[in-house]
Amino acid sequence: MTAPRTDLASRADVDALLWRFYGQALDDKLLAEPFAEVRAKGLSAHIPVMCDFWETVLFRAGLYQRSALQVHRVVHDRVPLSARHFERWLTLWIATVDQMYQGPVADRAKLQATRIAGAMHRRLTGSDTALTIPDGAAASPPVRHGPRHRESDKRCTAGTGTRSAR
Ligand code: HEM
Repeated sequence: MTAPRTDLASRADVDALLWRFYGQALDDKLLAEPFAEVRAKGLSAHIPVMCDFWETVLFRAGLYQRSALQVHRVVHDRVPLSARHFERWLTLWIATVDQMYQGPVADRAKLQATRIAGAMHRRLTGSDTALTIPDGAAASPPVRHGPRHRESDKRCTAGTGTRSAR
């Protein structure tokens, strides 16, 4: 019998989600090229920054204060990102969240990713065409932020430098 899925509640939960998600994204045929440098450097450098980002989005941890858009402009200059890239990224993200977690915070992880991906796509490409995404993300109702969580675990520790590197 499979264990019931619980909601995302800590940095350790976010870390586990990110390892599974990026494990797939880096191997994905379409996403492999934009993620080539991340793959070369190794996920242990990328995931703590992403943990800061998602802890900030989901739990208002205030750990990530850079401009993700700027970072993606650099990626986009190297490998032009299209709607197909963003749709694949979102499809994988939503599927991974759904495989691992269930609840209001998991819903928010899907909804916020959908919003951010849409905004990045618009800003990078200038396109007004909406992304086509799987069911279950945009339809989720907005949910209130839960309590702050500042737990860290052995792989995904705080102090990545994203706080002061605006
Ligand atoms: C087409 C889809 C996407 C691709 C191919 C992509 C690719 C990448 C790559 C290659 C990096 C590493 C850049 C570097 O360290 O030089 C990165 C970083 C990052 N990505 Fe994405 N990304 C995508 C979508 C998203 C979305 C939808 C989000 C947010 C929901 C996101 C959030 C971030 C954040 C927060 C960073 C870290 C930025 C930093 O270093 O401050 N990405 N992405």
